[in-house]
Amino acid sequence: MKEQFHIMVVEDEKLAGRAICDNLTREGYQCVLFRNGEEALSYFQNNPIDLALLDYRLPGMNGEELYRGIRKLNPMIPAIFMTAYSSVEKAVRLLKMGAFTYLTKPIEMDELLHDIGKALEGVILRKENRRLKEDLKDKFSFENYIFHSPRMEQVINLVLRAADSSANILLTGESGTGKEVIANIIHFHSPRRENKLVKANLAALPETLVEAELFGAVKGAYTGSVANRAGKFEEAHKGTIFLDEIGELPADIQVKLLRTLQEREITRLGSNTPTKTDIRLITATNKDLQTLVKEGRFREDLFFRLNVIDIHLPPLRERREDIKLLVDLFIKKYSSKENKAVTGISKQALDMLVKYDYPGNIRELENIIERAVVLAREETLTKNDLPLFMGNEPEPEISHPALDSSLPLPERMQIIEKEIIRRTLEKHHNNQSRAAAELGISESGLRYKIQTLHLKK
Ligand SMILES: Nc1ncnc2c1ncn2[C@@H]1O[C@H](COP(=O)(O)OP(=O)(O)OP(=O)(O)O)[C@@H](O)[C@H]1O
Ligand SMILES: [Mg+2]
Repeated sequence: MKEQFHIMVVEDEKLAGRAICDNLTREGYQCVLFRNGEEALSYFQNNPIDLALLDYRLPGMNGEELYRGIRKLNPMIPAIFMTAYSSVEKAVRLLKMGAFTYLTKPIEMDELLHDIGKALEGVILRKENRRLKEDLKDKFSFENYIFHSPRMEQVINLVLRAADSSANILLTGESGTGKEVIANIIHFHSPRRENKLVKANLAALPETLVEAELFGAVKGAYTGSVANRAGKFEEAHKGTIFLDEIGELPADIQVKLLRTLQEREITRLGSNTPTKTDIRLITATNKDLQTLVKEGRFREDLFFRLNVIDIHLPPLRERREDIKLLVDLFIKKYSSKENKAVTGISKQALDMLVKYDYPGNIRELENIIERAVVLAREETLTKNDLPLFMGNEPEPEISHPALDSSLPLPERMQIIEKEIIRRTLEKHHNNQSRAAAELGISESGLRYKIQTLHLKK
């Protein structure tokens, strides 16, 4: 752990600097030592440093000037100062500038190590945060997003253009077409990506709680509200809020949402003081909002506010070109998740998947492949791994008396023999010599069979 931290020591007294660096190296840190500020600063420009340990008095630029130079390049670097004689005034100035702490010489090694550990905690947190954010960006990059069909390519072009703006976006499309994924893509490709994406599913919230959930509430505003709480809108300040199933929004809250969008401020439930909000709103619905507007169940003025940019996700059956790529993607995803060696799919099974209509769209296709991978016994998925409701009828059982397993084998053979002879005689209009020739037996042999098998009409 410690070896990933690079500490820069700037100390003009050669022996003292050497001793500190040796100690730090022994502790497991990476240490670089400089004897003046100019060299240290030029090194800092091109190399990763996590913490600076600075002598205050240096030849040339002093420690304070050096720190100012460092902060211009990277304002987040923690610095610890070492001074020969301290004055309160100097200490306050350094701390105000952002220094982590200062120590008076002679330096106590234990104290120094303790302070370094503390200062690096912040660095660890920031590194962790940065990694999380990168992960998120990866997650919503296009690597695992399929948009091969011309219709989806158009959708993505629109999504990327819309992401740059702050305009409200309404996502429409059947269940499972990928509305939530698109909301993620919009946020993580927008100028707001460093801030939060907050989600609320209005179909999953009881009507009585929707208002407090979205707008927050002050203590005592409703039964059971025991403390002040921020709503999703406040949480999403400077970021994006995604309201799923917007068609479910109760009428009185439609009014409040409209006002929020017009005034750009929100008022907690039970409060009279509005606060400013800066949010980007994305809504989604699998209902036809225009119909709800006509039926008087959704406010028309709110509809227009939400619908500044309308992005419609076509159902999977209208972009069958994407099916094969989605199948490949999901096979990879689930064979690695389930630790299976499934690598492909038979042509017959794929044809079946391409023809199917998917009322549940991509989510349904994903479930079908997940199930198939779990069930698969071979490297290649076959139609036997697909669910029956896809028109995947099992092969019809051939029923024939000769297949009756309750009969002994000779009897079953006789049934077949009799059938073959019957058909051959029929074909040759009961001409026994021609039938015998076709069967490769003698005429007398055939007559004997006809008798023993009771083939006389
Ligand atoms: N183009 C795509 N490529 C790969 N996977 C996708 C794509 N679109 C959607 N998916 C996947 O399909 C599933 C359903 O997507 P999502 O939850 O976004 O649908 P939805 O439209 O919000 O559905 P609902 O209306 O039911 O909430 C998710 O697992 C998602 O990762
Ligand atoms: Mg959804």
